[in-house]
Amino acid sequence: MEPLVIANKAFQSRLIVGTGKYKDGPETRAAIEAIEKGYTRYTAVAGIPEIRRAIVDRHAADFATNYAPDECVFTAGGKLALFNAIEVLVERGDEVVLPIPFWVSFKDIIQFAGGTPVLVHAKEEENFRITAGMIEAAVTDRTKAIILNTPSNPSGAVVSPEDLEAIVRLAHRRGIYLLLDECYIYLNFEGTSISGAQFQDCKEHLVVLGSLSKTYAMTGWRAGYALGPKPVIAAMGKLQSQSTSNTTSFVQYAAIAAVSGSQQCVADMRTEYIQLRDRMLGGLATIPGITCTVPQGAFYVYPNVSAFFGKPGAGSASALASRLLGEAHVVCVPGEAFGTDEHLRFSYATSAEVIDKGIERMRSFFGGLD
Ligand SMILES: Cc1ncc(COP(=O)(O)O)c(C=O)c1O
Repeated sequence: MEPLVIANKAFQSRLIVGTGKYKDGPETRAAIEAIEKGYTRYTAVAGIPEIRRAIVDRHAADFATNYAPDECVFTAGGKLALFNAIEVLVERGDEVVLPIPFWVSFKDIIQFAGGTPVLVHAKEEENFRITAGMIEAAVTDRTKAIILNTPSNPSGAVVSPEDLEAIVRLAHRRGIYLLLDECYIYLNFEGTSISGAQFQDCKEHLVVLGSLSKTYAMTGWRAGYALGPKPVIAAMGKLQSQSTSNTTSFVQYAAIAAVSGSQQCVADMRTEYIQLRDRMLGGLATIPGITCTVPQGAFYVYPNVSAFFGKPGAGSASALASRLLGEAHVVCVPGEAFGTDEHLRFSYATSAEVIDKGIERMRSFFGGLD
């Protein structure tokens, strides 16, 4: 059987999955031009002034925020922005509030910095919704930071504007840093996205973590950023100066082209993903035993597969994920990696045809479990 990858988010640059549009995005041309012009040397560690300006301008235009370029650091991917932020803010023994299910790297990065994750369980029956009340209940005198990722990887849950504002204000009031992972902010399927940074009176305790990976399908370019209070951004730059130094010089030019050019591709991609999500959910609904919440954003589904745990050789999400790969040639990530035991995460950042094929294989796999 030909392998079929449906958990692969590393689709091509500017390729709207399944359509082939935007294959050669402006970032590719900008990067080639930058190389041809010889922009291949060291740059300022936090990024050339033009990229920092372009990032804050994009954020201001989309979310009515008012960051200055020196409140922005450009990093080799959103993951490094997160890593550097946690490293400079979290000391041994500090608590970091983290909603479950969480993106895999959050917990490890907190622990690597010596922090203690304080896990807040979102309820599946409430579509994995995170509320301000849930976060507040987890805050103690030792809380240094709160991590919020909306829309969420893996659940696709979106924090409501009211809860987001309440969490931003809570963090500010208590002197706790809110690390707001906006990696999927442009893939919110429920109305208009807002950024917590628009509550400007609370900016002192807010660090926005952003990525070009998903918004512009630029996963391999390694382009991300953080926006935040000057001292935090300066410390992140200092840390970066002893690790990666600047982000690849010509990637910075590519990133300027991506964030400054027409943003129609972002809107088109969102429309495409809504269709793919519905196709995926429709397919999963045809598999007896699987239930699934409706993701409000990002590009993952997070179905509950615990109904199969009683079957031989299918006692856990990891066991099922491993058998799905080996027997059905379908890739997914087991829920244990995200802090829940009963789920599998599938990516639908692929074509409709691949989704249909994957669903067919899963139907026969799960149907044959006895
Ligand atoms: C929630 C979340 N944050 C951050 C990232 C980091 O993205 P990158 O390092 O590719 O910019 C990812 C990537 O999967 C993610 O899912």
